[in-house]
Amino acid sequence: MKSKNDLNHTLFEIGQVFIKKEGDYENLKFAVDRYKQLMYDLLGLDLEDERNRENLSTETGVAIGPTWAAMCLDDITRTQKFVKGIFEAVEELLSKRKDSRPIHILYAGTGPYATLILPVLASYSEKEVKVTLVEINPDSFDHVIHVFKKLGFEGYLRDTLQVDATKYQFSKEIEIDIVISETMQRALDTECQVPIYLNLQHQFGDDILFIPQQVVLSFGQSQPSSSFDSTPLFEYESLSSVFTLNNNTKRDFLNEEYSIDKESQFKKVSKNFSSQKFSDVVLPVILTEIQVFKNNWIKTNESGLTIPKIVSLDLKGLSDFTLEFHYEISDNPHLNISISQ
Ligand SMILES: C[S@@+](CC[C@H](N)C(=O)[O-])C[C@H]1O[C@@H](n2cnc3c(N)ncnc32)[C@H](O)[C@@H]1O
Repeated sequence: MKSKNDLNHTLFEIGQVFIKKEGDYENLKFAVDRYKQLMYDLLGLDLEDERNRENLSTETGVAIGPTWAAMCLDDITRTQKFVKGIFEAVEELLSKRKDSRPIHILYAGTGPYATLILPVLASYSEKEVKVTLVEINPDSFDHVIHVFKKLGFEGYLRDTLQVDATKYQFSKEIEIDIVISETMQRALDTECQVPIYLNLQHQFGDDILFIPQQVVLSFGQSQPSSSFDSTPLFEYESLSSVFTLNNNTKRDFLNEEYSIDKESQFKKVSKNFSSQKFSDVVLPVILTEIQVFKNNWIKTNESGLTIPKIVSLDLKGLSDFTLEFHYEISDNPHLNISISQ
């Protein structure tokens, strides 16, 4: 077994690969494989165990089980861009801070590994960065505490909470600088990203730096690439953005009390489309783009989180039409789309 110093150094080196301006794919893949091996050596999490594969259903979305949360590490672009964004956000806040108070990061939905934060912690001192870990799944929570102990990272911890981040009310005294949460799937389907964002933004205010800074959903079309030998096989075009999760989202949220529950609603948004040519091969899609931090964007199809979602609406032969979009928070959150009559 490697010593704590060796482990920390490996995490530091992995972080250095992730923050490079233009990481080449081979290096990134190597870094992710090294990261996976390190986590396996630390925790020995059995990814095949049925218990680790059980998701937890809540009234505002699904919290994925430890196996699936651990496997998010494999999404190379996602992991790299989030870690890079977090590094840059920490760096920016440290350079602006006027006192010696550490930057306090709230990590909502850590999974068993706290994947997005470990290379960052390995690069800063406990005087520079503190973290509060929040995880709803009791097994993932136990695992992540174990990881921090094994790495000797307890000194970075401000608090550890096994709670639902869509509902938990933090003490008024707590000062948070950055919130991290990657609790999403493409098209903001199924998981709790939106209600977590709303709950935390309501408590910590508009100035809180949330990572990702924005998630933009747009309605668009997918069609086969025009050239035969081209990769990728499909081309995607955005026709109109229809829902954005950022500091302004709360304006469209109809529950002024901000109690996030399954009755929570957003305003309906109507959009007119003209001269469209949907067909058997030109299909309606929801496209997802994520602004992790500043210039770090995860663009359409670059990650599992931004794979286009085919919409099951029959728009074939319709040239001019109006669609209504409505993001629903429920036990299965998603963007509703209907044709306006
Ligand atoms: C997609 S995984 C991401 C894991 C890890 N942060 C990463 O990026 O690799 C999301 C994690 O958030 C947790 N989670 C989902 N909804 C939550 C909620 N409402 N409150 C707290 N944790 C939640 C899940 O249990 C899961 O471990």
